[in-house]
Amino acid sequence: MSTNERHVPVMLRRCLDLLAPALEKPGSTVVDCTVGLGGHSEALLTSFPGVRLIGLDRDPAALELARERLAPHGERATLVHAVYDELPEVLARLGTPRVQGVLFDLGVSSMQLDEAERGFSYARDAPLDMRMDQTRGIGAAEVLNTYPPGELVRILRAYGEEKQAKRIVAAIVREREKEPFTTSARLVDLIREALPQAAKRTGGNPAKRTFQALRIEVNGELAVLERAVPAAVAALAVGGRIAVLSYHSLEDRLVKQVLTAGATSTAPPGLPVVPERYQPRLRLLTRGAELPTEEEIAENRRAAPARLRGAERIREEP
Ligand SMILES: C[S@@+](CC[C@H](N)C(=O)[O-])C[C@H]1O[C@@H](n2cnc3c(N)ncnc32)[C@H](O)[C@@H]1O
Repeated sequence: MSTNERHVPVMLRRCLDLLAPALEKPGSTVVDCTVGLGGHSEALLTSFPGVRLIGLDRDPAALELARERLAPHGERATLVHAVYDELPEVLARLGTPRVQGVLFDLGVSSMQLDEAERGFSYARDAPLDMRMDQTRGIGAAEVLNTYPPGELVRILRAYGEEKQAKRIVAAIVREREKEPFTTSARLVDLIREALPQAAKRTGGNPAKRTFQALRIEVNGELAVLERAVPAAVAALAVGGRIAVLSYHSLEDRLVKQVLTAGATSTAPPGLPVVPERYQPRLRLLTRGAELPTEEEIAENRRAAPARLRGAERIREEP
């Protein structure tokens, strides 16, 4: 399958519209922090002919596909293997410390989900890996087999919002003592057996929340995002714009906190005139989080959980 057949970029039109005013000037630079299969990147390059694009991804396999797809744009696209919290170093290395646009399309790509051997999917039996970058770090099996029970409960609750975390972890610990986990089907079966009937009736595959939690832990997703969004805001030139697509409430909460804080005055209450240094450096471009339309969800079910937020840099640092 070609890269454009198997992935439909989420909320594409809205992302382009949000970034447009910042990218219409020739010589602008936009960073796609999650280039993935290059869907958003390709549209950015086509819609804004004067723009140079820097694309990051931590997954070397995704970068290889994106490189092929973006090749017709030649030197206008520079792709870099990096985790997105390395953004300031990447920009410094490329001699572009300030940019006009930044896009994040968080989470896993359809390619990562579709390739069973990557271990992201609870729908097919595969090695429990879930690393977006298989050249470093530990996989999901090692997390399951070695983490203390209390830590596993915390992860399932915090990252998976799993109400039955204790019950599931008790079953995992019992099973891993008999034999360490290696593949996903055994974990999926165990979760199904561990849950009470009532919990199984709510919302899709009962393993979904545990898989999400393991994926977030394996890739350190929230810690990385917590560093990356402020770094991206700091890299924006005045007039530059950021757009972030999140897929679960924890990501969206983090993004909201950073953008809202940037758009809020830090002046102590009661000042008759607010000095420049207290004034907000961001202006929010979205009211709350914007959602995909019903039509988009009907065409692309992976868009369903998406939440889009955007902001414009309006001021230099004090
Ligand atoms: C939802 S996909 C992006 C799809 C892309 N917008 C497109 O239209 O093809 C997310 C991508 O971000 C990458 N990714 C996730 N977390 C990352 C991180 N912390 N640093 C760099 N890349 C990351 C994943 O490897 C994946 O390829």
